[in-house]
Amino acid sequence: MLFNIQTKQRAGRWLRKITIMIELKNIKSHFPIFQHHPDLVYLDNAATTQKPKSVIDAISNFYEKENANIHRGIYPLAVTASQKYEAVRGKVAQFLNAKNSEEIIYTSGTTASINLVAHSFLSPRLESGDEVIISAMEHHANLIPWQMACKDAGAHLRIIPMNELGELDLKEFENMLSSKVKMVAITHISNSLGTINPIGEITELVHQKNIPILVDGAQSVAHYPIDLQALDIDFFTFSGHKLFGPTGIGVLYGKKQYLNEMEPYQFGGDMIKNVTFEASVFADVPQRFEAGTTNIAGVIGLGAAIDFVNELDRNEVMSFLKKNEKNLIDKLLKINGLSIVGQAKCKSAIVSFSMGNIHPHDIATFLGAENIAIRAGHHCTQPVMDFFKVPATTRVSFSIYNQAEEVDFFVEKLKEIKQFFG
Ligand code: ALA
Repeated sequence: MLFNIQTKQRAGRWLRKITIMIELKNIKSHFPIFQHHPDLVYLDNAATTQKPKSVIDAISNFYEKENANIHRGIYPLAVTASQKYEAVRGKVAQFLNAKNSEEIIYTSGTTASINLVAHSFLSPRLESGDEVIISAMEHHANLIPWQMACKDAGAHLRIIPMNELGELDLKEFENMLSSKVKMVAITHISNSLGTINPIGEITELVHQKNIPILVDGAQSVAHYPIDLQALDIDFFTFSGHKLFGPTGIGVLYGKKQYLNEMEPYQFGGDMIKNVTFEASVFADVPQRFEAGTTNIAGVIGLGAAIDFVNELDRNEVMSFLKKNEKNLIDKLLKINGLSIVGQAKCKSAIVSFSMGNIHPHDIATFLGAENIAIRAGHHCTQPVMDFFKVPATTRVSFSIYNQAEEVDFFVEKLKEIKQFFG
């Protein structure tokens, strides 16, 4: 730990803010998995991040000492559980700079969040002949829900094209924004290419035509500070497990004006005001979208994950990840027959590649035997694979605990694999 004293001059007065920051060079010690697997080179962070001890402790502490259902019991344990659950909502709102915590809905993850918007927001508004726009680099989770909504309504799913670097064609996008378009849904960072899309610019274009936009933040939320008010995004989604938090918990942010207009997606306990056999009156936002007993321990874990990220210097994180990514790309480009899939100018900590005719699954199996964890496959982006005419790629995705030596070790093993396969 280090004491970082930030001093700011405001209204003629010196304000002194003392924050306790976690140093990146000691970060591995916060993640118990590396004590159990000291040789693990974990480069599959786009699939899921490892969990810091504080998150694991928060979850087990909840189950050991504080477990009770929320919003129901009036005994002290239940009241405390409800308060903690709601306090995390405020924490998430602050983390994303949402206007208020009622705009934060807990879901099971990004996929559930997108399905909720497609079902409860888009479908009732979508008519035959309308259009929905997504991009050519979407994860299946930000493609199929819109595809199904379009199919049901007789609407058309339109795709923003990308170039061979994996960058979206924004000129073409602008041309696509007609009065028929009822929704735009786009990823902030591509999970298979690493491209960072210019969300601010895209949102501005979309709003000039009064079209709502959903941004899939699954790959961006851990690495990039998100300011929803500055970006003016209408819906934003992310998963806890890619933010050092637990699986099975995620968030849908929606502007209150839209959430208020939406009917619930699932019905059951804890989402109502009044029920008779004849009719039901639903609870206000956000509770009306959280039917049944939700993942309470997951919410507590998510809160601990946000606390953890808030102790990091986010600028340091961004430059650290960029350094690892650049180091890897420089080394990969020296390997004959290796081609990087996705070379956008603006790119994040994700590097996908093909190495001649060696199948990515063979590469992953060999690397696995060396304790190197990477993902090989289509990464739930089959249209991206089709575009680049590859069946699959090998993907390295970095996080805050990866070290330069791990990149060297990875490249050395990759060269051995290449030699083995001739
Ligand atoms: N969507 C996650 C990935 O890209 C699982 O690996």
